[in-house]
Amino acid sequence: MPKISSKWTCQECGYISPSYIGKCPECNSWNSLIEEIVSKKSSYLRTNEKDNSFSLCSDINISEMNRIKSFDSELDNVLGGGFVSGSLILLSGEPGIGKSTLLLQVADHLSKNHKVAYVTAEESLHQVKLRGDRLNLSGKNLLLLSENNLEQIISLIEKEKPGFLIIDSIQAIYHPELESTGGSVSQVRECANKLLRLAKENNITTLMAGHVNKEGMIAGPKVLEHIVDTVLYFEGEKFHNFRILRATKNRFGCTDEIAVFEMKEHGLKTIPNPSFLFMSQNKDSVPGSTYAALVEGSKTIIAEIQALVGGTSYTTPRRVANGLDYNRVLQIIAILERRVGFNFSKHDMFVNLVGGLSSYEPALDLSIAMSIVSCKQDVIPVKKTIYVGEVGLTGEIRQVNQIENRIKEAVKLGFERIVIPSGCDISKSLQSKIEIIESKKILDAIRATLAQAQSI
Ligand SMILES: Nc1ncnc2c1ncn2[C@@H]1O[C@H](COP(=O)(O)OP(=O)(O)OP(=O)(O)O)[C@@H](O)[C@H]1O
Ligand SMILES: [Mg+2]
Repeated sequence: MPKISSKWTCQECGYISPSYIGKCPECNSWNSLIEEIVSKKSSYLRTNEKDNSFSLCSDINISEMNRIKSFDSELDNVLGGGFVSGSLILLSGEPGIGKSTLLLQVADHLSKNHKVAYVTAEESLHQVKLRGDRLNLSGKNLLLLSENNLEQIISLIEKEKPGFLIIDSIQAIYHPELESTGGSVSQVRECANKLLRLAKENNITTLMAGHVNKEGMIAGPKVLEHIVDTVLYFEGEKFHNFRILRATKNRFGCTDEIAVFEMKEHGLKTIPNPSFLFMSQNKDSVPGSTYAALVEGSKTIIAEIQALVGGTSYTTPRRVANGLDYNRVLQIIAILERRVGFNFSKHDMFVNLVGGLSSYEPALDLSIAMSIVSCKQDVIPVKKTIYVGEVGLTGEIRQVNQIENRIKEAVKLGFERIVIPSGCDISKSLQSKIEIIESKKILDAIRATLAQAQSI
């Protein structure tokens, strides 16, 4: 079989080179050339090549696009209501985060009512079976294959015609006609295109695992985003046993929803109310720690924000933000200096969203600011208080969305007061359940909950 030749194309300006060069001579951008296959017949999807024609929109039967439920309703929510048959889904995440575990749990559940083929290209069949036993999965109807040659996989799938195909992982399979090694950009893209074609032509719902590094930049997921229908991102800290699943792209649903799982010996278990995960175990209030209510899709989560402010031994003080938007933290520090009168020029500052969670919501601003002030002043904020509000550059506290949902979650978790922006429309019944402190300016919130608070 003749080898496929390749070309290198600049992703910025389209310049084509026969070999790799680090800097594009046309637009001068670095590392922008990506290897592409030169093929007379494009491997991109072409359906109904023979007799294609227009259809009337009203005649299209969408009931054929039925949703298939997974083993977990939270996962279905993230997908927009379940798997759409014939869709191509990428489950990306850092190595060891639990992609194979989730895929095996999904595969085993689906195999009870559908024909499911699980192709492992990274592990032996024994390893998959061992994991299945640990997860207490029956695996009775699940078809397993250990193979990484894409052509072999496709020919076996075309013979078996399963309803679901799991590929673990896209970086570990290779197209034998390409010279580049498995996992390279050209291999990953070519393999994904072939799988897309297989999925659409045979109506096989296909799930692929894909690795990313900390920056999400390694060959694979970023290149694949345009090809697949849905990109699920599995995140979490390896040192914590909870995982968050979110859709970063979804052609069949919104991308706001998240599902929180706990990684246990017997597999991933959903946590429908995850707030307690993101609050420290320490029940006593301490200076530098406050609580915020953040919204992720239809979930409201109470999370703790901690700040540590201390003298610096550097000329330029250090600023560290974990799980929060670094630039936003810098902006809040600048607002506290200019609008409240603090001077942090000789202070290092560390701000942390507890529990390994990440959120860039502006509604966390007030809690970040209060944690910083509380630590700097060494005062404990009034107990059982939640802070919600975006802090504007003039020091005003701006309104945020879903304020009632945030208050409800605070009530549910036993908080006694909540500081919110002034002018919010709160129902009478909710007002009777918690003390609501409306604040126009950041200084009002400080006076209401820190000035009268006990100093240590
Ligand atoms: N006995 C166990 N009890 C609890 N958790 C376990 C156990 N064994 C493995 N795990 C968890 O499973 C994780 C590995 O899961 P899995 O192999 O599904 O990840 P992955 O994302 O597919 O990894 P890779 O990138 O290597 O393919 C481990 O990091 C660990 O958190
Ligand atoms: Mg794996």
